[in-house]
Formats: sequence, structure tokens, C-alpha cells
Amino acid sequence: MGMNTQLARLCYASKTVKDEDEIRQDLMDILAEAVDFNGRHQVYGVLYYGNGKFFQCLEGSAEIVNTLFYEKITKDPRHSDVVLLDLADIDYVKFSRWSMKYAPYDKAMLRFFTDRGMAEFDPYSLQEQRLEDFVDYLLKI
Ligand SMILES: Cc1cc2nc3c(=O)[nH]c(=O)nc-3n(C[C@H](O)[C@H](O)[C@H](O)COP(=O)(O)O)c2cc1C
Repeated sequence: MGMNTQLARLCYASKTVKDEDEIRQDLMDILAEAVDFNGRHQVYGVLYYGNGKFFQCLEGSAEIVNTLFYEKITKDPRHSDVVLLDLADIDYVKFSRWSMKYAPYDKAMLRFFTDRGMAEFDPYSLQEQRLEDFVDYLLKI
């Protein structure tokens, strides 16, 4: 990455279009595509799936991250209702160890939500401090 490359972090929420039992194959395909493209373009991040919804953060060159999101991901028929939650210039990437970290749903995750008054995972309700807390949580697990 060039010294003058502006870095950005983009987080969004979306809904899956497949049934719960069909999502596994989509997830594996998406992760394989993500690891391949992101690895070649110094894009990093995390993808979380739970309760029929996706939450993803993309980090890297602002130009590449924006193009990936608006030209590919928002047009991808494997999900719908894509809502941008946060787009910020950053000084460093948090997920530098992962081309795309996959965070599975588990009991600890459920506790993260219930501790914050959410009955279940709802990425659309993640804003400001809660969004930042969730990203840091995904970084640690
Ligand atoms: C929830 C979700 C997350 C995705 N994340 C990425 C990603 O991080 N990187 C990526 O290259 N493609 C990602 N994709 C896949 C792209 O939308 C697209 O299918 C892929 O880049 C291949 O596009 P192409 O065949 O036009 O090159 C994601 C798709 C979905 C549905």
C-alpha cells in the first residue's frame, strides 16, 4: 500500500435471502471469494452471520473498499436490505490478521446482545458506541 493511501473502515448490515439450512453453502462461497479478492487488494475485515442477518466490516484503501461495497457487495443477490452503518477514515486497520475473519454465533455472542438489551442479534440496531463495542468484540474472539 502506498504511503498516501487513505484507509477506511466500512460497516454494514444486510439480510440473507436463503433459508437457514441453505446459508452454509453461500457463506463458504462468500468467504472464499472474500479471502481471494481481499488478499490480493490488502482489504481486511470481519463477517458475522446470525439470525438471518449479516454484519460485515471492510477495512483497507478507501477507494478499494468503496468500490467493493458499492459495485459488488450491494449488488450481490445473495443478500438484501443492505444498510450502511458506518464509513470512517482510519489511521490503521484493526483486522490486519484476517483477509476476512468469520465470527460464528455462539452463547458468548448472545450474551453480548442480551447484556445490551437486545433479545437477539440485530445488526441494524448497531450504532455509534454499540457498533464500536461490537467491532472490538469481534476482533477479540
Ligand atoms: C455478505 C457478503 C459479503 C461479501 N464480502 C466480500 C468481500 O469481503 N470481498 C469480496 O471480494 N467479495 C465479497 N462478497 C462477494 C461479492 O459481492 C462478489 O460476489 C464477489 O466479489 C465476486 O464478484 P465478481 O464475480 O463480480 O468479481 C460478499 C458478498 C456478500 C453477500
